[in-house]
Amino acid sequence: MVKYKKILLKLSGEALAGDKKTGIDPATVSNICEAIKKLHEKDVRVAIVVGGGNFWRGRDGYTMERTTSDYMGMLATTINALALQEALEAKGVQTRVQTAIEMREIAEPYIKRKAIRHLEKNRVVIFGAGTGNPFFTTDTAAALRAAEIGAEVILLAKTIDGVYSADPKKDKTAEKYDKITYLDILNKDLKVMDSTATSLCRDNNIPLVVFGIDEPENMVKIIEGENIGTIVE
Ligand code: GTP
Repeated sequence: MVKYKKILLKLSGEALAGDKKTGIDPATVSNICEAIKKLHEKDVRVAIVVGGGNFWRGRDGYTMERTTSDYMGMLATTINALALQEALEAKGVQTRVQTAIEMREIAEPYIKRKAIRHLEKNRVVIFGAGTGNPFFTTDTAAALRAAEIGAEVILLAKTIDGVYSADPKKDKTAEKYDKITYLDILNKDLKVMDSTATSLCRDNNIPLVVFGIDEPENMVKIIEGENIGTIVE
């Protein structure tokens, strides 16, 4: 028995970089994909939104328009989507990549009904290029796609193992929450996701589980109903 049958997994770009912090670490990607394969074997429908911060962290230090910087980020997410596709298929997991900006030679364009069809056929669907619009984060893309495909939950992979009252690296008194509401996140400005993504999840009643990706097996435990990380409802 699994707790959720259709999930949206949000991976940051950095999650794919491992200790290198930049680029793609094959062993790290392989570990993450091994856990995704286990979800797949449990008949969980898995859609993925991946970030791009391992290749492009924004325009800091560069003179450029926000829009240009954001488009560069969307291209970075597409690189990561292709890397995940290859790693999953090497493990025998069928996948489809869909991008929010058309790049037909590289991947399918995002079509909601086709994405749902792929999920029904038990293919892992990987969404690249964020929402396709500048000024939106990949967290917002995750919230949007989760709402569109009717995901029961978003699994938000972080380098930290849940939501804390303050930054535990800076504040020793920071406490981890087991459960919290979207309103708390907005009111306490907890920086779990940006406010657009948070509002989108809240308005559409999509729960979120924030967990540490250092142990990819956490995903499997969450699906099996273990209380890992922080649940946001
Ligand atoms: P079903 O017909 O529902 O089984 O889906 P399918 O994805 O197997 O069928 P389709 O014929 O659409 O796709 C066959 C292959 O071509 C898959 O690997 C798709 O990812 C790929 N594909 C489909 N459309 C595009 C596209 O616009 N661009 C690229 N690059 N690949 C595509």
